Amino acid sequence: MTKDTEPSGTKPLPWGEWIGLGAREPYRILFPLGILLGAVGVAVWPLFFLWGVAWAPPPISHPRLLVEGFVGSFVLGFLGTSVPRLLEVRAFALWETVSFAGALLAVGLLHFFGVAGWGDGLFGITLLFFLGRLASRFPSRKDNPPPSFVLALSGVLGAAAGALVESSERMGLTLSPELRQLGLLLLYQGLPLLPILGVGAFILPRFYGLPSRESLPEGRSPTRAWIGRALAALAAALLLLISFVWEAAGAPLGGGLLRAGTLVGYLLYAIPASRELFSRGTVAGCARLSLLLSVLGLLLGSLSLPLRAAWLHLFFLGGAGLLILTVGARVILGFSGRGELLAGRYRPLSQAMAWILGAILLRIAADLVPARRDLLLSGASLFWLGALVLWAWAVLPKVRCPDVED
Ligand code: HEM
Repeated sequence: MTKDTEPSGTKPLPWGEWIGLGAREPYRILFPLGILLGAVGVAVWPLFFLWGVAWAPPPISHPRLLVEGFVGSFVLGFLGTSVPRLLEVRAFALWETVSFAGALLAVGLLHFFGVAGWGDGLFGITLLFFLGRLASRFPSRKDNPPPSFVLALSGVLGAAAGALVESSERMGLTLSPELRQLGLLLLYQGLPLLPILGVGAFILPRFYGLPSRESLPEGRSPTRAWIGRALAALAAALLLLISFVWEAAGAPLGGGLLRAGTLVGYLLYAIPASRELFSRGTVAGCARLSLLLSVLGLLLGSLSLPLRAAWLHLFFLGGAGLLILTVGARVILGFSGRGELLAGRYRPLSQAMAWILGAILLRIAADLVPARRDLLLSGASLFWLGALVLWAWAVLPKVRCPDVED
């Protein structure tokens, strides 16, 4: 049975009330911002190739708008909503959420208009500020975060370091090529990958009706089980860091294989093996596909250097992009009294997935057929934009609808 008919859910709040709720649940403001920046970040290709319009070289503005703008907004939106709830501490205040959103919007504008050094610097500072605001709540916590969140928060810290390294270089500091490469890897791959693993270990089993191994009994002092799982998450974070250092030191094959291996190993450790993992439904299918494409993208990207950027888009588009839209739909619909829409087939998400697959094919083809690169890249961008529009049209307006308990 398809479940596309709208269930009752809750009604949209007036804008004034929505802002108050959006401050306490930052995803309501940051997810729409992420979609906007994710659209602008690929639109730079057709703007440049089809109409000759560019305020910044697309190879510089595109990855930053996508990673800092799109991925960054979703990561901060998700962690900014869930971590205070899980710690049972006070939610973010209006000034804090408005600062994160304003800073990310400014980062996007700086990159779009070609001021990458300032954009990277502001992004690094925003991430540190975000971590600082979470840390300031830690002493008053009544519970601990899921241990796997050690990975997610390490990813944010690593990306802050990467962005600040990149900014320093662009501001005139001369750094070694290895350090610069490490900074870019921490930013471009670390920001999507570590939060995907850390948050995924906690949330993905629920997509399949399985218990999460990262949900431990409530309590302020860490239990042995909590410490054990947190150490495993820390070990995975360190292995990923070693993989970045290894690649930056000139061994892309070794670094890439270690990264893909750590991804597979940690997923096997965190997600219980069960036949439920093969269950039907759009959310279950999209999550499975995105994990598969992530592993494939990291593996192929390290095995074939000439096509590295093309293969990595299996991870960027099919892994990070698709998983972000899947988790985003789950959060937005779940928190607006419409969770049951996702129990079976949910057409806006399955259609977005199909458009993303089209974008991946054209993105890879662009590097295989250099004579048609401009057209193929523009086509890939239009497919990604199509996926965002389909998803946003159906899902995004529900950020204005409160949870049934509110
Ligand atoms: C269909 C849409 C997309 C197109 C056409 C596209 C195109 C490209 C191209 C041509 C490059 C190489 C730039 C260069 O010459 O250095 C690139 C790099 C990159 N793209 Fe995309 N991209 C798309 C979607 C995405 C998405 C969704 C993400 C992230 C979620 C992403 C993240 C990146 C990153 C991080 C790099 C830099 C990779 C590196 O140098 O290690 N892209 N993209």
